Amino acid sequence: MRGVAMERVVVLITVLWTRSSAAKPRGGEPFKSVAESDPPRPLPPTLPESLSLNCTALVPQPIDTHPIRSPQIVHSAITPFLAGRSLVEIGTRNGDGMACFARAAKSAVAVEMDADYCRKLEQRALAIGDGRAAFTVRCDRYQSLALDADVFTWWQQSPHLKNLQVLQHLRRQLDARVVRPEAVAIVLFEVGFPDDMRSFYRLRNLSKWEMSVAFDETALCKRKLRQRWFHARAHGTFRVAEIRIADVPLALDFNLG
Ligand SMILES: C[S@@+](CC[C@H](N)C(=O)[O-])C[C@H]1O[C@@H](n2cnc3c(N)ncnc32)[C@H](O)[C@@H]1O
Repeated sequence: MRGVAMERVVVLITVLWTRSSAAKPRGGEPFKSVAESDPPRPLPPTLPESLSLNCTALVPQPIDTHPIRSPQIVHSAITPFLAGRSLVEIGTRNGDGMACFARAAKSAVAVEMDADYCRKLEQRALAIGDGRAAFTVRCDRYQSLALDADVFTWWQQSPHLKNLQVLQHLRRQLDARVVRPEAVAIVLFEVGFPDDMRSFYRLRNLSKWEMSVAFDETALCKRKLRQRWFHARAHGTFRVAEIRIADVPLALDFNLG
């Protein structure tokens, strides 16, 4: 329970810190990429605390650790936005995030192109669901699938899972009426990872809201990974942004996003 309370406090402090430094939202402008010094976008709507799950407590023995996967405290921060909604996670890997998301969302689909991960995900879905799969596994590249959900989420990985490419793919699917008009993406960006931050500042003006989530998985990282450069990256901050798929312009050069 101590861990549960501590995680809630960290998420709350981070959100409050961002809120206190937030400038007025700049709604309604045409898309442009923004500079690092530009004011933050609006914060997420305040949702009841009862909708928030503690993913560290619910997934006490994660298979991976940051920086191999996104931090569990970031997973927790996303859970309120999944309540009562359908979810597709693109690039689920071993499913440490999905093992928590599936408990928060109305329904959940894991999309993974690596067949080894897919096998493990199928087993994990059954284990969590007590014999009935807690989430569906689609074992393919997201580009080859017809996917639809209220919420799509991912953490980008070059070269096959790049933020703007995914967003534009989903926008084309929305135009083709495969993706529902109100669908949103909840996109993760690691502040300490230059590729992510380049993408963050390029896409930021599209977001409805953004939040910062501090994380520290150093202890777990040291237990699971021997390489010291991983340990140095195992604490820091993630930015999480929600983008309406319908707001994604198709005219941008996706090599830049
Ligand atoms: C950076 S990991 C993210 C894992 C997890 N979502 C997280 O947040 O930690 C990216 C995952 O996406 C998968 N992936 C990469 N490109 C993909 C694609 N085009 N379609 C489906 N999965 C993809 C990789 O196999 C890997 O498991």
